Amino acid sequence: MNRSFASSLLPSAPWWHPRAGHSLVIRGGRPLLGTWPVSGAKNAVLPLMVSTLLTPHLVTLHNVPASLDVAVLSALLRRLGAELHWSTTEAGLSVTICADRIHPGEIDGDLVARMRASVLLLGALLARCGEARLPMPGGDAIGLRGIDFHVAGLRAMGADIDLAGGMIHATARAGLKGADIRLPQPSVGATENLLLAAVLATGTTLIRNAAREPEIADLARCLIAMGATISGLGTHVLTVQGGTPVTGAVHTVMPDRIELGTLACAAAITDGELFLQPGRLDLLGAAGPVLERAGVELREGESGLIARRSKAGLSGTDVTTRPYPGFATDLQAPVMALLSTATGASAITETIFEQRFRHVDELRKMGANIAVRARTAVVRGVPRLQGASVTCTDVRAAAALVIAALGASDDSRLDGLDHLDRGYDRITEKLAACGAAIDRA
Ligand code: UD1
Repeated sequence: MNRSFASSLLPSAPWWHPRAGHSLVIRGGRPLLGTWPVSGAKNAVLPLMVSTLLTPHLVTLHNVPASLDVAVLSALLRRLGAELHWSTTEAGLSVTICADRIHPGEIDGDLVARMRASVLLLGALLARCGEARLPMPGGDAIGLRGIDFHVAGLRAMGADIDLAGGMIHATARAGLKGADIRLPQPSVGATENLLLAAVLATGTTLIRNAAREPEIADLARCLIAMGATISGLGTHVLTVQGGTPVTGAVHTVMPDRIELGTLACAAAITDGELFLQPGRLDLLGAAGPVLERAGVELREGESGLIARRSKAGLSGTDVTTRPYPGFATDLQAPVMALLSTATGASAITETIFEQRFRHVDELRKMGANIAVRARTAVVRGVPRLQGASVTCTDVRAAAALVIAALGASDDSRLDGLDHLDRGYDRITEKLAACGAAIDRA
């Protein structure tokens, strides 16, 4: 990231430190040992921060991960007129957001281009201000990632939406109205966008074929604390009785289940042992049994999850990504890194995003034996990966390369670190504290 952009984030997120160095150098082969503090979930905190735009009252979020995506969204909210007050305690980072005076004017294209979740501003701004104007969102280059479900759902609620010249211009001068909406696919972002819009829309909204990811229930719990009436949490049908103004709330962001699964892989590939805290097996959904089949021992302790390699070692297993509670697409790349050193073959099938195998070429540079055919990658385990110079191509690919480098026989150099910083809170520091030889250079 260029330093002037990094510095421009500081007024909105003073805890964000423009990182020194463009590369991460990891000396592999050291076991990760100790307690790993699992941060608040990246995929929960972003919609939760956007939800603060629905009310003029104060909303406080605890357990906020100190990640680049949070810094970028903070800058976006500030440009819209929201005030953010940060505090740090032993329990972590908290923010109180006051959106009593917001203006939905054109949103900064440079910021939106950095984050797909900025599309959630559409539902919240339309509901609160009757208008939203933003560039088409950016984010990871992992597939088409259309926003047609978002647009169709908001149109069903009475919005006029114009898509031209790379911009989205949406209006609902007379306000949004509740609607009966069926999503063609259980899209996480579309479910969240429509949920945010439905809270202030008059009447009842049904979101059918809604995504069931735990981060959506976390958002719904915060909205309920703000006074919204929502039922069907964790199911495929969310019902919102909208139209009542919402107030302030205090909410603690749920733990990051993707970080949990990722670090379980890191513990196993390095033959270490991590106490992942907080952590529960049920948060992993289908990833828990997949990891156990692959030879990752997972044991629930009082306040966390102990993860290590099983005595029998790592073994190949087949994986297919599915919407929650199926195996999370966000764990596909980390698990591929792990299975690269398992005994036997694994077939990894990606069904959510069509271009989510960009980490394969990088893992191959480290000696992984992976053949891709359409949406399936066949991984034939090798005894050990070797260090190499590799590039992070998206946020979860970055996590996979960190896992591979930690398990490799010698030094690796990772570039493209913005992707890592986008999704992971102080990962370099946390890895070093658990014994990794890691440096930004
Ligand atoms: C969210 C997560 C991301 C995760 C993904 C799937 C956040 C900030 N990001 O992304 O980490 O990998 O869920 O679990 O929470 N689609 C359309 N049209 C739409 C919307 C989606 O075709 O209008 C397609 C997408 O191209 C993709 C699939 O639906 O192929 C799933 O996407 P979606 O669940 O919406 O993912 P995101 O919300 O972008």
